[in-house]
Amino acid sequence: MNPLPNTFHLPASATRYAEFDSTEHLLEISQQIDSVEPVLVVGCGSNLLFTKPYEGLALCSRIQTITHQADGDHVLVTTGSGVIWADFVRYCISQGWYGVENLADIPGTVGASAIQNIGAYGVEASNVIHTVHCVDIRAHCTRTFTCEECNYGYRDSRFKHDGITRYVVTHVTYRLSLKADTNTNYGRLQQDLKAKGITHPTPHDILQIVSETRRSKLPDPEEFGNAGSFFVNPTVSYKKYEALAAQHPNMPHYPQPDGREKLAAGWLIDQCGWKGKNIGPAAVHHRQALVLINLGGATADDIITLANAIIDSVKQRFDIMLKPEVIYV
Ligand code: EPU
Repeated sequence: MNPLPNTFHLPASATRYAEFDSTEHLLEISQQIDSVEPVLVVGCGSNLLFTKPYEGLALCSRIQTITHQADGDHVLVTTGSGVIWADFVRYCISQGWYGVENLADIPGTVGASAIQNIGAYGVEASNVIHTVHCVDIRAHCTRTFTCEECNYGYRDSRFKHDGITRYVVTHVTYRLSLKADTNTNYGRLQQDLKAKGITHPTPHDILQIVSETRRSKLPDPEEFGNAGSFFVNPTVSYKKYEALAAQHPNMPHYPQPDGREKLAAGWLIDQCGWKGKNIGPAAVHHRQALVLINLGGATADDIITLANAIIDSVKQRFDIMLKPEVIYV
C-alpha cells in the first residue's frame, strides 16, 4: 500500500500509485490501465476524506510548467495540473495579471481547480478558465475541453459526473486580464477595501485582504487537519427561503439566477449551536462552522459521526439536508 497525502491528516493509502510529469508520461502510464481499474487523482488531498485504503490506482500530477501567450488585452496562461494553486495565484499577481487574486491561498492544485470549480470572495475558477487539457486514460489519447464544455456550476463540473475516472487533467489554460479588472462585489472585501481607503485596488491589494480574511476565519491545515468547507451551501426554493426568513430576518441568503436562494451552510450549523463543539477528536471550527477539523488522531469515522450529527441537527431545525462538499473515498 502506498501512503497518500490529505489535509485532514488521516491515514490514507492506495494499492497502486503513480506520478506523471508530462502529458506523454501520463499517456504511457495509461497504457497499463485497463478499462475497469478504479483510478483516483490526488493533488494535495485537500477535498478528500479517506474512509478506507483505496483499492485502485492513485495518480498524482507533477507537471509544473507555466507558459503564456498574449491575447489582446488578455493573456492565456497554460499551467501544469501539479502546480500548487496558491503559488500559481501569487505568480499571476507578480506578473500583473488580473483574475485569480480573489482565489488566493485556497489549498490544492491547479488540476483540482478545474475539477472542483473552486471559488471564494465572489469569483470562481470557471470565470477565468479558457480550456482544460486532459488525457483520456481509458482511450489513451488527449482531449481538450472548452470552458463551456466543462459544464461548470457551483463547485461542480462535468468531470465530477461522467469523467472522474476517465479524464485526468494535465494542464489548464486561464484567460487573465492585462488591464485593471478586479471583482470587489463580495461584501467583506468591499468593507475591508473601504476601511483601508483603497478605491482602485491592485490584484496585490486584494491578495492581501483575502489572505488576512482567510487567516482570520479558516484554520491552517498544518495546525488542524481539515478540508476547507465540509458542506456545500444549500440552494432552496424561494418559498422555503421566505418561510425561513420570516423567522430569521438576518439569515444570509444569495439570490440565484433561477429564482431560488442559496443559504449559508455555516450559518445554519452555527444556529444549531455547533460552532466550537466536538465529538471526540473531530470538531467544528470555532470561527467558521462550515469547517470540520481533526483535533489530533481523528479517524474518518470520527469525522463522519460529527458530520452526520450536524446533518441531523440542520434537518430537524430547518428541514434542509446538507450535502458534503468533501468527497468520501
Ligand atoms: N456564517 C455564520 N457562522 C459561521 C459561518 C458563516 O454565521 O460559522 C455566516 C457569515 O457571517 C456569512 C455567511 O454565513 O454571513 C457566509 O459565510 P462566509 O462568507 O464565511 O462564506 P461561506 O458561505 O461559509 C463560502 C465558501 C468558502 C469561501 C467563502 C468565501 C462554500 C461551501 N464555501 O463559504 O470556500 O472561502 O465562501 O467566499 O461555498 C471551500 O470551499 O473550502 C471554502 C472555504
